[in-house]
Amino acid sequence: MVRWHSVQACAIVTPMKLNFGRDHLAIPGPSTIPSRVLAAMQQPAPNIYAGPLIDLTEQTYQGLMRIAKSSGQLVSYVGNGHAAWEACLSNTLSPGDEVIALVNGRFGGMWSIIAEALGVNVKWIEAKGTEANNTDELLKALQADSTHKIQAVLMVQTDTSNSIINCVESVRNAMNAATHPALLMVDAIASFACEELHVDAWGIDVLVTACQKGLMTPPGLAFNIISDRVWQLHDKASRNTPYWDWKPRVEGELFPEKFGGTPPTHLLLGLSEAVKMLEEEGIENTWARHRAHAECVWAAVDAWSADGDIRCYISDKTLRSTAVTSIATAHEDAIRIQEWASEHTGVTLGVGLLPVAGAGLDNNQFRIGHMGHLSPPMILGTLSCVNSALIALNIKHGDGAIDAACNVIAAY
Ligand SMILES: Cc1ncc(COP(=O)(O)O)c(C=O)c1O
Repeated sequence: MVRWHSVQACAIVTPMKLNFGRDHLAIPGPSTIPSRVLAAMQQPAPNIYAGPLIDLTEQTYQGLMRIAKSSGQLVSYVGNGHAAWEACLSNTLSPGDEVIALVNGRFGGMWSIIAEALGVNVKWIEAKGTEANNTDELLKALQADSTHKIQAVLMVQTDTSNSIINCVESVRNAMNAATHPALLMVDAIASFACEELHVDAWGIDVLVTACQKGLMTPPGLAFNIISDRVWQLHDKASRNTPYWDWKPRVEGELFPEKFGGTPPTHLLLGLSEAVKMLEEEGIENTWARHRAHAECVWAAVDAWSADGDIRCYISDKTLRSTAVTSIATAHEDAIRIQEWASEHTGVTLGVGLLPVAGAGLDNNQFRIGHMGHLSPPMILGTLSCVNSALIALNIKHGDGAIDAACNVIAAY
């Protein structure tokens, strides 16, 4: 219903609206940028050859490695997640090399397709989008590879398309059980600084990530965190080019060499503040906060699902990401909910993505991003706005969703 408020004196008629406050972007990345990060970027251009930016970046990168729980090396690119993917592949693999890709979502598929485009033979071990990576099949494939032709295993910790979380430890255990020397390469683009992660302890050889999700910084910085084991493959990788090459980025003496050219000055200033915030919070607390907010979302959606067709796409709670939740509906209700929430409440929900790499949008799904800079009013507000959409659009749903979400917060 539209109510009209008329301003008699100047005869201007404007529609009354409720969403006069701050809009909220509830998509699974880019995530909300904290005011502290925005303020840190509000500076004149810094020198890129000497001065405070260089020390600040060094401290920030040390912080990132503490967050990753890695004693390896950090390599950065001016780029997005796709850049992090390609950097990892170009530095380690050559045309004709064999890898295994564990795929149960769109992003796992997309990474594999990029490897194939680089001439790599990718053996896809696929699982349904609602099921974990198939480690039994991985173990068999590695055991069958007695001459160790397989150079790497690729996996995605959180596939943002369907909000499934894969267990890195189980994959590493399968590789160890097969006593196979392949490198373990993990996409943590959606999970970094959201989900529990131990790069060293879990034997991750290359971790790929980017700054725009759990790291709360505007898009544009991509990272590879590498172990000592990568160099043997790196030195043989025949498709690597100077721009992507890890070596000058690790060894370069001039600051710009670490970025293959001009450093992304203001992203580094923003990231430095974001890393400071995460370290002040303590990464274990950050993981716990993500879990609390995720449980809030699951409690609400599970309550809605008691009557009608709206439900969490991943029914097994142990496989649900704490960074994003995909929500399935019927009759293209998902798209109607997104449109209503955006227009009437200022909440932008994430679009549904078809699980297949390169496929389009899924109008029977929407996603709530609960990663990064998030507090109870943001998450309870988002859920309440979706609840309002369900009422306004006459979409059948169970009662008590907001109470269920509040109970989760109350219990912390
Ligand atoms: C798990 C995962 N991998 C890779 C990507 C690709 O990242 P980008 O869009 O920044 O290139 C995304 C993007 O959302 C993602 O969620």
